[in-house]
Amino acid sequence: MSKELIDLFYLIAAVLFIFGLKGLSHPRTAVRGNFFAALGMLIAIVVTLLDKRIISFEVIIAGIVVGALIGVVMAYKAPMTAIPQVVAIFNGFGGGASALAVGAALEEALKGGFIEAIDMQFTIAAVSSGLIGGVSFTGSAIAFAKLQGLITGKPVLLRGRHVINVALILICIALSVWLVVDSTSSMPFWIMVGVASLLGILLVIPIGGADMPVVISLLNAYSGIAAAGHGWVLNNSVLIVAGSLVGAAGFILTAIMCRAMNRSLANVIFAGVGAVVTTEVESDDIYAGRVKSASPEEVAMMLEGAQRVVIAPGYGMAVSQAQYAIQDLTNLLESMGVEVDFAIHPVAGRMPGHMNVLLAEANIPYEKLREMDDINPTFRHTDVVLVVGANDVVNPMAREADQSIPIAGMPILNVDEARSIVIIKRSLSPGFAGIANPLFVADNCLMLFGDAKKMAMDITAALKQA
Ligand code: TAP
Repeated sequence: MSKELIDLFYLIAAVLFIFGLKGLSHPRTAVRGNFFAALGMLIAIVVTLLDKRIISFEVIIAGIVVGALIGVVMAYKAPMTAIPQVVAIFNGFGGGASALAVGAALEEALKGGFIEAIDMQFTIAAVSSGLIGGVSFTGSAIAFAKLQGLITGKPVLLRGRHVINVALILICIALSVWLVVDSTSSMPFWIMVGVASLLGILLVIPIGGADMPVVISLLNAYSGIAAAGHGWVLNNSVLIVAGSLVGAAGFILTAIMCRAMNRSLANVIFAGVGAVVTTEVESDDIYAGRVKSASPEEVAMMLEGAQRVVIAPGYGMAVSQAQYAIQDLTNLLESMGVEVDFAIHPVAGRMPGHMNVLLAEANIPYEKLREMDDINPTFRHTDVVLVVGANDVVNPMAREADQSIPIAGMPILNVDEARSIVIIKRSLSPGFAGIANPLFVADNCLMLFGDAKKMAMDITAALKQA
């Protein structure tokens, strides 16, 4: 295939990636967007395989078969709540693959193989890709291990970690300069990848498990940049475009998540949130026997008399997989003439769009899912808010100016403005931020203690009996 034809197909693939990303911006177009992106990737792969520089098809086919098998099994076996760690490990493999492939290209070039002469573009791209790929591989592996519970999810704060990290970065820079100035040996490259891999571990280990989604998004951006660097090494335009798109999308997502939590990226990475948890004494001071609990039957009676109900889901809905039971409850309420909406906080759950995905899975119409800014003014006219396994995203402590409160300044769902609130959760335990929630003792609030799915089913059963 001529170079012009290859470039033309690569351009088509790149355009399809961009349409794919555009499609993913809305649930209605997401499936089509995914299809476009997958088609773009298929074109890119086929064209690359037809490129005359391929040395061995056997190895490539073996890699595709083994990789596809592992990927399919992992994707099928992973429950919805484990998607963050699946994404983490896939990112990590991407970053690691880029570092290894760039190293292989360097070896090939040093042998005088099929790769053109080593120039400045080659070496700078190689060290960038090796450095970022190494960090994203081990960083993602640690993120995976934390989320999967293989190692502690709490921040591990090593003494002098900032000094060690700075020293490792300086070593990486020195080794990079060595390779760029004297590209006669691959040794500085491989040492640098090793040091970068150590850096990846040390950068992620101090971060609390619940902050991992932000870190994963950042590492995803890194793996994109590593792939783009790989593209510069091989002079492969589609790899440069695809890597840049992943990098840019990852950085934008990271920024959106940080903004929604009202935290800077530096705070997420260096603050070690999650190490400090509210003590029982502090919680007791706030709750002090003032909690009012209700039964599913009592909640059913409240809902019967309501005209407008808002459901505010959170991480607990994901844990208990309550979305189908919530769907049944919603259908029943609507058949009784009650208006039902869903309040979606941008960081409810543990990954971007977590609630949207779960509710879409249960066929809740997308129009019912209302973003925080859109639904907040309506709580004043809402009879009952059902908070399903959410905690931090409805915690009025976020309105406090005290910056020692981990969620201070985070915009929340103003459910406390509704006439009555029912909070479904199993206990008075705090959420991800580890702080007490004064909403639990608000005058207009009732606690319905229990698993979200079971409680939703019990309310539905009680409504049917009434
Ligand atoms: P959280 O504040 O984490 O609270 C979840 C609550 O669910 C817990 O208090 C827990 O209480 C309850 N729960 C757990 N399992 C349950 C079950 N089976 N049935 C009923 N309830 C159950 O969740 P949220 O309100 O969704 O807030 C999300 C938090 O994660 C925010 O602080 C956010 O900043 C953070 N975060 C989010 C993201 C993204 S992108 N979404 C990324 C990083 C961090 P019990 O144990 O008492 O049941």
